[in-house]
Amino acid sequence: MAAVPCPWLVLMLLQVVLLLACSGAGAADDENLTHLRFYFHEVRTGAPNETSVLVASLNRTGSTFGDLKVFDNALRAGEDPSSTLIGRARGLGVFASVDNSGGVTTIEFVFSDYGNYSGSTLATLGHFTIPGVSERSIVGGTGVLRFARGYFTTEIISFTSDYLVALIDMYFTTKL
Ligand SMILES: *[C@@H]1O[C@H](CO)[C@@H](O)[C@H](O)[C@H]1NC(C)=O
Ligand SMILES: *[C@@H]1O[C@H](CO)[C@@H](O)[C@H](O)[C@H]1NC(C)=O
Ligand SMILES: *[C@@H]1O[C@H](CO)[C@@H](O)[C@H](O)[C@H]1NC(C)=O
Ligand SMILES: *[C@@H]1O[C@H](CO)[C@@H](O)[C@H](O)[C@H]1NC(C)=O
Repeated sequence: MAAVPCPWLVLMLLQVVLLLACSGAGAADDENLTHLRFYFHEVRTGAPNETSVLVASLNRTGSTFGDLKVFDNALRAGEDPSSTLIGRARGLGVFASVDNSGGVTTIEFVFSDYGNYSGSTLATLGHFTIPGVSERSIVGGTGVLRFARGYFTTEIISFTSDYLVALIDMYFTTKL
């Protein structure tokens, strides 16, 4: 006569099955995550051949709140201004913090000379803070980057009154 399995045994087996399923899913996700690292080079507003312009400002003393900037910055493989140009970061930033701590950007990353990503783009959105590391969303893409979603981090690593360099790390998947 077959014994009815003890409930605790069933629970334990279920736990093992769940554990295996979960760890399997985690590993697969990681392997499908693409990591890109490159540098954002901005010729600052007011410098000769600026790549970032101040379009509108309420010009209140000590406040950037409401300022609107548009930029078309170089993306380079390295932090040196003469390193390989891989694409452009085109977009706008609105200073949207009453405490002047940062703003919201919408940036299209357009890759022109970046291996198999050349001719493809990533669309992004999110809030940045100055100083420190900012994390923003990757919400889509075109070409081989269609259906991209993930996030990217940025950190300013050097700046003068004329020139700014930021490190960018992107993590995303293009799997549906
Ligand atoms: C990556 O995603 C594809 C499609 O969703 C999937 O078939 C594949 O198993 C994943 N890769 C790994 C290593 O898990
Ligand atoms: C600005 O751009 C012009 C035209 O491309 C170039 O001749 C000039 O050298 C540039 N100036 C600076 C300071 O980069
Ligand atoms: C903003 O204010 C500065 C001085 O405070 C002035 O030089 C500049 O022309 C003003 N800009 C605008 C757009 O009003
Ligand atoms: C692009 O190339 C890299 C390595 O060269 C490869 O890992 C990646 O899967 C390729 N991506 C696409 C979308 O072709």
